[in-house]
Amino acid sequence: MKIAMIGSGYVGLVSGACFADFGHEVVCIDKDQSKIDLLNGGVMPIYEPGLADLVETNVKAGRLSFTTDLAAGISDARAIFIAVGTPSRRGDGHADLSFVHAVARELGENLANDAVIVTKSTVPVGTGDAVERIVADSGTPHRFAVVSNPEFLREGAAIADFKRPDRIVIGAEDDFGRDVMREVYRPLFLNESPILFTSRRTSELIKYAANAFLATKITFINEMADLCEKVGADVQDVARGIGMDNRIGKKFLHAGPGYGGSCFPKDTLALLKTAEDYQSPVRIVEAVVGVNETRKRAMGRKVIDALGGNGSARGKKVALLGLTFKPNTDDMRDSPAIAIAQALVDAGVSVSAYDPEGMEQARPLMPEVVMCDSPYSAIEGSDAVVIVTEWDAFRALDLDRVKALVKTPVLVDLRNIYRPIEMRRAGFEYVSVGRA
Ligand code: UDX
Repeated sequence: MKIAMIGSGYVGLVSGACFADFGHEVVCIDKDQSKIDLLNGGVMPIYEPGLADLVETNVKAGRLSFTTDLAAGISDARAIFIAVGTPSRRGDGHADLSFVHAVARELGENLANDAVIVTKSTVPVGTGDAVERIVADSGTPHRFAVVSNPEFLREGAAIADFKRPDRIVIGAEDDFGRDVMREVYRPLFLNESPILFTSRRTSELIKYAANAFLATKITFINEMADLCEKVGADVQDVARGIGMDNRIGKKFLHAGPGYGGSCFPKDTLALLKTAEDYQSPVRIVEAVVGVNETRKRAMGRKVIDALGGNGSARGKKVALLGLTFKPNTDDMRDSPAIAIAQALVDAGVSVSAYDPEGMEQARPLMPEVVMCDSPYSAIEGSDAVVIVTEWDAFRALDLDRVKALVKTPVLVDLRNIYRPIEMRRAGFEYVSVGRA
């Protein structure tokens, strides 16, 4: 089947490459000429493990190509995916749908055959209806259906998530839409991946409900971690103890500095806006958003306390290890590291940092932070070392070397990657999250 993927950002590129790998003929389309040039030259505009190889293999096999020409890209396509960005609209937190609507208009004007139009971008409930109206208003003579098919990819594990999904959700209103989507995902049906057919509006809401639930789970365990520190309990054992209950489940109960990234912060806000529009408040998610925001800065204060409090922090030096919102990505969007660095700089602390992939993206977001080319050069002469993101490279630090380089052996581990007893034995003053 020929598939067109409009928008060659993170979601579009990963989905397009994976569909091509299933054997479909895929054209990825993007307005950004420089991005298309990079892709045609074999250079990935984003960092995602395994993506460059997947793209290369499928381009060589003649199944995957890139273009800026929408009309040519969609001709003969049976399924046309919309995977353009839906950022938070400045000022009100609503998802900005202007890119989605613009694509719908272009599709109406350029449709050259019957096709199913699929919204892959995360879009608020009712967007599929709007896309359908816009395309219909163009007066196209061709038969079309609009389907919702949200993605649940995690950055850093996107290809595996795409190929072995927990479930595929398809929101379709007619058989044309359902039949074409069955064909699109046939290799995964054969794989016995669960597939859920729903109405279009239900599918749109599932995406937001899933992300809001996961953000709630993280925020819940983060607040439990704070309580653990006060009452003298261990949050990792609390997480294990509750997670063994199948109704709760053990995943997403890892306490840390708060969630960030391109999805949870944006999608929770957009869900709140939908709830407001329909006067059906989701108070739990309101609390989650507030608690998570406060938490990121509170982590900065935790570091300041480890330096001896406000009075003595000024003039000291802190090394941040890991800046991206999670490992195996170069994505800095809403990363807790930004708020932590700012809180430290505001307290008069000088900050150096190292991240395996995110330094280029981080630089403009934290201009006062000195970026170093290894963890050890960041650590040199510091009064405290802070693990912000749990990159594998920081799990096996040479602790003797660290101790020899620092001014004082204080380690603040915001991801609980080390064991308190071992760190104390190694001679560190060790502070972690939710482990008294
Ligand atoms: C998320 C969803 O998992 C994915 O299904 C959706 O499509 C997009 O949003 P992603 O943002 O790539 O994916 O990252 P994820 O691995 O889910 O982590 C999100 C944030 O939560 C990170 O900041 C991470 O550090 C934090 N997190 C996650 C925790 O603090 N504790 C956990 O137990 C899990």
